[in-house]
Parts: sequence; structure tokens; C-alpha cells
Amino acid sequence: MRSTLTCRVAAGGLTLGLLLSLSMATPRCLWAEQGGRTEVARRPPMGWNSWYGFGCKVTDGLIRAQAEALVASGMKAAGYVYVNIDDCWQGQRDAQGVIQGNNNFPDQPGLAAFLHSKGLKFGIYSSPGPRTCAGYEGSFGHEEKDAETYAAWGVDFLKYDYCSFKGDAPAQIAAYKKMHDALVSTGRPMVFSLCQYGMDRVWAWGPEVGGNLWRTTGDLDYNYRRISEVGFGQNGLQRFAGPGHWNDPDMLLVGLGKMTEDENRTQLSLWCLLAAPLLASADLTQMTPQTRDILMNPEVIAVDQDPAGIQGRRVAQEGPLEVWVKPLGDGGKAAGLFNRGRSAMPVTAYFKDLGVGESARVRDLWARQDLGVFKGSFTAEVPKHGVVMIKVTSDK
Ligand code: GLA
Repeated sequence: MRSTLTCRVAAGGLTLGLLLSLSMATPRCLWAEQGGRTEVARRPPMGWNSWYGFGCKVTDGLIRAQAEALVASGMKAAGYVYVNIDDCWQGQRDAQGVIQGNNNFPDQPGLAAFLHSKGLKFGIYSSPGPRTCAGYEGSFGHEEKDAETYAAWGVDFLKYDYCSFKGDAPAQIAAYKKMHDALVSTGRPMVFSLCQYGMDRVWAWGPEVGGNLWRTTGDLDYNYRRISEVGFGQNGLQRFAGPGHWNDPDMLLVGLGKMTEDENRTQLSLWCLLAAPLLASADLTQMTPQTRDILMNPEVIAVDQDPAGIQGRRVAQEGPLEVWVKPLGDGGKAAGLFNRGRSAMPVTAYFKDLGVGESARVRDLWARQDLGVFKGSFTAEVPKHGVVMIKVTSDK
């Protein structure tokens, strides 16, 4: 029997009411309606991931220590709630095919309970292929069993990383959908993070396989060159993001690696303007005051977490100088004035480019300071590889 339902799909800030037939089993509709797939990531997920800081040197004890530091440092209060173990936690499967943690992770349900007792959420990692990127056991052929196991452990987030899988684009899409359906069948809401490197336009089919976020590029590196290449390269993907489904330009390297204070601010500013997931990578037990201040600036984070969920875009470029804007739910505009050059330079944001009136109030979000009312444009001296991030509101 054919039954119908109203399926609401968020697209570019607009909500479209679509009447679709259930018997057509439209994946996008199922994604929207089943298991709260939008609700589970209505705003870009925030938390911490083990990979860039620790690689395969992860243990249960290390994860617990990071979780404790997440709470003690104020990161949790700032919104960072997911604690995600990346690759290298997997052991063997038992006789029933149930995946086990390896010697470093002897008690996954216990670890989940510990995180939950701190008000945090538990993230885990697997692959649609038989092996993960680091060569550990993947989920190929065990999707249902693994989804059930994760649900039984209390997992809240799955990063599903495209390694060792053999197949063309339709086969990949089917593999991701298979795991999504298995997750939905457990009845436990879990964020589904597609790590697929932007091949085959993952942003175009990510929502249809239930993805809440999808990596749009290959891995970052511990330097400004790669981070700026990836971050500034996201322009044009804004129409594919919205509440419940986000483009993911990879994790935050703030406080890790070789970036200067200005370069770290550039990554956080750009990621927030992009409405990107904010997954910190730094060793949270060793954060400097500067790293904390950057990761926890509430006004910058609020841009990322803005309820309208609109991904920002570039509105002006002049050589190494760029201006990006992100429309906010309250009608204001967040803007980033970026200098990718090798010395300090003035950058001008024209209000007509930002979509605000001739006269507008400007607030500096990093300094958390009102700068006054400006006519037509706003100019700031921006340091090398740096940013000035502002909120601009039409002056009525
Ligand atoms: C890939 C991913 C990384 C990380 C590693 C783990 O490189 O892109 O984010 O998950 O695999 O092996």
C-alpha cells in the first residue's frame, strides 16, 4: 500500500515542504524522517578527536584524561562535547563476529559510561572497507553487527572512513547507505560522519545516505599552507550544507603543530564562517592560555553554531586579501577579513558585499568589542596570515 508523508528538507537556509511517496523509499526523505537524522546534528558537531594529536598511540586511559581535561578546561562548557576515538582502537572479532576493542581498549561500554557520566558524548571510528586506513578491522560485511555493537556500547558518533573499499561511486554510495540504515535500525541516534575526501562530489550524495557531515578534502597537515589551501578552497560548497548535514574541511589543528597565533585564529575563524564541525585535536591536558582563548572564544563559536546554519562564502578577493561573509539567524552578518599575504595589509569589507545597509554597526568578535557605526565599508589592518573577524548589523 502506498503511504505518503511530508518530508521537510533544509536547503540553503530555506525549508521546502515536499510531498513524497514512502513506497518510493526516497533516501533523502528517510534521512530526514527516520531516527532524527537532522536533530542529531542540528548544529555543526563540536568536540575532540584523537587522530592529529595521538595517531595510533591511543588508550582508554588517554581518552579518559582528555575527557577530564575537556571538562576542567571549560571546553565542554564552550560546546565541545564529543570525545571521538579515531583509528586504532579495534581488536579482533569474536566467534559471533562481534568487534572487540584491542588491548588498549578493554572496556568500551565502561569508557562510554565514563564519558556519559561527565555529560560528554562518545565517538568511534570504522571503515566501509575490510580494513581501516591504519590497517585495523573495518566493517565490510559486518555493518549490522557493528551498528548493534556500537549502540549497545553507547556510541553517539561514528566516523566512517573510506579506506580499503573497492568499488565505483554507486558501490561506495551503497556502502555508506548500508551503514546508515544499520545505524537507524538500532534506534540509537548516532551522528554519521562520512570521511570520503570529497571524491565523487560526496556533498551531493552525502545527505541521501544519511550523512550528518562529510569530509570535503584529503587530510590537513600541521601548517598554515595546507590549512589555508583546504579552508579557503571550500568556497562554492555552501549550498550543500545546512542543519543536520555539514561540509567537513577536517579537524582543528589549533594548538598543535607549527601555526602562529594569527594562523590559529585564521583556522578557527574560517571554520566558523564555514559552519564546519569543530573537532579540536590539541592535547587538552597541555593547552596554553593562547590555545584556550582561541578555541573557546564564545562570540566566534556562536558564528559556527548560529541556528540558521548557513555556510559562509567568499564575497571579495584582491590578490592575497579575502572577505568572507556568513549570514546569521538574527539578520546580522559575520565577516572575516583575511590576509593570506606575507606582510600586514589593510583589508576593506564593503557593506554592499556583505548585504547590509549603508550604515552599520561593527563588532570585533576576537576582541569582543563594539567598534562603532561605519558608513559603506569597514577597513582593518590585518596581520600576515591573520584575520579580523567582525559582526556587522544594519544601523536602523
Ligand atoms: C584517514 C583520515 C584521518 C584519520 C586516518 C586514520 O587518513 O582522513 O582523518 O581518520 O585515516 O587512519
